Amino acid sequence: MILVYPGSFDPVTNGHLDIIERAACICDKLIVAVGNNESKKPAFTVEERIELIRAAIGEREDIVVTSFTGLLADFAKKVGARAVIKGLRAMSDFEYEFQMALLNKKLEPDLETLFMMTSVQYSFLSSSAVKEIARNGGNIDGLVPDGIKDRIIMKLTCR
Ligand code: COA
Repeated sequence: MILVYPGSFDPVTNGHLDIIERAACICDKLIVAVGNNESKKPAFTVEERIELIRAAIGEREDIVVTSFTGLLADFAKKVGARAVIKGLRAMSDFEYEFQMALLNKKLEPDLETLFMMTSVQYSFLSSSAVKEIARNGGNIDGLVPDGIKDRIIMKLTCR
């Protein structure tokens, strides 16, 4: 079974990686799909976001990292995914994710949305928080993978 894990990943955090690792265990192939939320102004280009995810997960035959434009439902159908997987951090995520799941179901009735609870140690984490801490010289140890920490700091602090 193929699952798609979509997100902005601007940048990828340890919270996303937690979902990636766990989701990969319940499918044959996980497609991590970098998309754009039109209401957000990303700090990292799509290519940079893909590179950071690839660097964080290393060589994996069961995980593909790519990008998509347009509707998630169309992309998922194109790649033959049975379901979309999303991480839920708190009740506050629920309403928005519920709406997205219903919209995607309306667009593509055969496509399911699965929710995975984020591990408790990452329930407070978001990409915006990482960016704000890094831009202001704070410590992002433990919030993003060690191997990409310096690239994230460099990008966010060099003007
Ligand atoms: N751990 C830590 N943080 C997490 C997390 C986890 N497990 N899961 C989500 N988050 C955070 C993200 O870092 C992000 O933080 P930010 O708001 O500070 O950037 C936030 O939760 C939102 O997550 P994300 O998964 O990136 O969702 P998004 O709302 O930005 O959605 C797309 C991005 C690409 C999935 C979405 O815009 C989309 O599907 N676009 C295509 C158009 C479409 O089909 N729309 C639906 C029909 S109208």
